[in-house]
Amino acid sequence: MKILVTGGTGFIGSHTCVELLDSGYEVVILDNLSNSQRDVVKKIQTITQKTVHFYEGDCCDKQMVEKIFKEHHIDAVIHFAGYKAVGESVCKPLMYYQNNLMSTLTLCEVMNQYECKQLVFSSSATVYGDPEIVPIDETSKLGPTTNPYGTTKLYIEQILRDLYVSDPSWNIALLRYFNPIGAHASGFIGESPNDIPNNLMPYIVKVANKELPQLHVFGNDYDTHDGTGIRDYIHVVDLAKGHICSINNFLLEHVGVEAYNLGTGFGYSVLDVVHTFMKVNDVDVPYVIDERRPGDIASCYAKTEKAYQELGWKAEKNLNDMCKDAWNYVKHFKLQ
Ligand code: NAD
Ligand code: UD1
Repeated sequence: MKILVTGGTGFIGSHTCVELLDSGYEVVILDNLSNSQRDVVKKIQTITQKTVHFYEGDCCDKQMVEKIFKEHHIDAVIHFAGYKAVGESVCKPLMYYQNNLMSTLTLCEVMNQYECKQLVFSSSATVYGDPEIVPIDETSKLGPTTNPYGTTKLYIEQILRDLYVSDPSWNIALLRYFNPIGAHASGFIGESPNDIPNNLMPYIVKVANKELPQLHVFGNDYDTHDGTGIRDYIHVVDLAKGHICSINNFLLEHVGVEAYNLGTGFGYSVLDVVHTFMKVNDVDVPYVIDERRPGDIASCYAKTEKAYQELGWKAEKNLNDMCKDAWNYVKHFKLQ
């Protein structure tokens, strides 16, 4: 089976390509390299010892997407391509709506044309907005979202539901990721933001690597065990495997359109993560307690039963693994 992976050289996409290839799927990547590097293709091939077909191009470019479908018989698509920085989406909402929505619309149009109707979409726990109850299950209320990035995910989920209503032969998995961190154990691929990171793990890594002086912990007065925010961190390799289970499930049954939480079901505080990172990697991560970050919530973690029961998937790696692999990637990255 041949899978088109849009955004396949990005953080989650690259790990998913490795798992797809290791599971015997053929992989075609479409990525415009707006937030990733071309050499990731080589690294995926080095890890798996398999070949991938790579197209540098934009998923909003219909001719480009058509070219791929003309040249390959695509059985299913995993759609990662999109912008993902929450803060940037607040400053540049049009850019976010344009890219995230248009890439999806263009892709679906071409998929329809070529009778390819199996799609896995990268959604996010951000669609739940500020959850009323944790753990969050898939039937929890959606929105209101707190930023344009989150709204693009909510809109796209709705667009895909409408598409399914119009044509029930579609199979669509909406995968709502919690907080993916970590890296491939080989150290070849991982997350390497160029700018000052907004997210916790890349920031910790830069502090540990002495590229930044200290971590700012955003608030220690939340109603949590140590006062700092709680999230459901999930190893990116576990997350990648969730996509393989979704694709496998399409082969077993007609799914229709279904949303699945991809998280571990466990919540860890900011200080839990910092202390685990220092301990397992034997490094120092100096931190100061700061004000709460606007828009942050106290606690967010997943109920994961649906993915286990229907996809046969559950996360296997723990916080120690996530912290070790995130650091291993940085050490490896420096040597490359
Ligand atoms: P990423 O930025 O590392 O990967 C996205 C890839 O898409 C990049 O390689 C980028 O170059 C490419 N891209 C962007 N727009 C494109 C376009 N129009 N055409 C072709 N390629 C394009 O991000 P990621 O962390 O791997 O996230 C992948 C997906 O998962 C995104 O849709 C993101 O919104 C979603 N997601 C990510 C997280 C997270 O914490 N990383 C959480 C929830 C959901
Ligand atoms: C954010 C996005 C979410 C996105 C996710 C992963 C918001 C509101 N949500 O989630 O849409 O899917 O990233 O990309 O932005 N923290 C610090 N110091 C830091 C950075 C973070 O204390 O320098 C704390 C935060 O307050 C939070 C936790 O660490 O409690 C995790 O933050 P982060 O990694 O940014 O993820 P989220 O805010 O959960």
